[in-house]
Amino acid sequence: MSFTPGGAGGKAVFVRDMFATIAPRYDVANRVLTGGQDERWRGRAIAVLAPKKHAEILDCCCGTGDLVFGLLRAEPTLTVTGIDFCEPMLERASVRARREAPADRLRRKGGALRLVQGDVMAMPFADGAFDGATMGFSLRNVVDIDATLREILRVLRPGARFVNLDVSKAPNPTLKRLFDFYFYRIVPLVGGIVGGSRNAYSYLPDSLTHHPNANELRDRFTRAGFVDAGYQRLMGGTIAIHYGTKA
Ligand SMILES: C[S@@+](CC[C@H](N)C(=O)[O-])C[C@H]1O[C@@H](n2cnc3c(N)ncnc32)[C@H](O)[C@@H]1O
Repeated sequence: MSFTPGGAGGKAVFVRDMFATIAPRYDVANRVLTGGQDERWRGRAIAVLAPKKHAEILDCCCGTGDLVFGLLRAEPTLTVTGIDFCEPMLERASVRARREAPADRLRRKGGALRLVQGDVMAMPFADGAFDGATMGFSLRNVVDIDATLREILRVLRPGARFVNLDVSKAPNPTLKRLFDFYFYRIVPLVGGIVGGSRNAYSYLPDSLTHHPNANELRDRFTRAGFVDAGYQRLMGGTIAIHYGTKA
């Protein structure tokens, strides 16, 4: 299957179809492409969120549920809601939920999990419904970053934090060149073999090209209305954890 971001339906349809194609092998491809490091980065993002016991947490663009299950492992009393618009990715998350976070085990510990199909730019949740939110490797894929940040802010309670984990642009030019070589040359090759679609794994690096750098993204958090916005760099800045709080 070939993908054209500007094709019929525009970017949202393109992104949804692309993830539907790679959903069955998404988890394996992720582990291979990051050498298993993505689990560690997710752990750092969850530590930055620092959810309180029994909090209601939203994972935006949850995909197959890596952050959802990471949150529940870190604090089993949480009620975690994962939202994603791609049905096959959510199906994978449901299969994993039966194995990794069965409802009866969660209930015994005071936690819960629900998976919702929907667009993060217009979520079916009330204002102020959540005590915190996360997003992993997804902000590059949304049609409008600013509208998405405002929508996330809307569903957070005052004092709640949003934490976004994603690839970023390393400030060191040599490191950036090395990372670009890996991301733009190796990822499509290896992703094609392991993930099953070279086309899809060629789009993913491209999605970084027009993405704001770490400082710009922090400023967009602030412009969207988050306070105390900032970020932590991982892996020399090729990965960043951005955060902001609802006043
Ligand atoms: C790279 S995957 C990341 C999945 C997961 N967060 C992770 O860390 O592995 C990107 C996910 O974002 C979802 N996505 C992209 N745009 C979306 C939108 N506007 N609304 C809901 N989900 C979206 C895709 O369907 C896909 O599952």
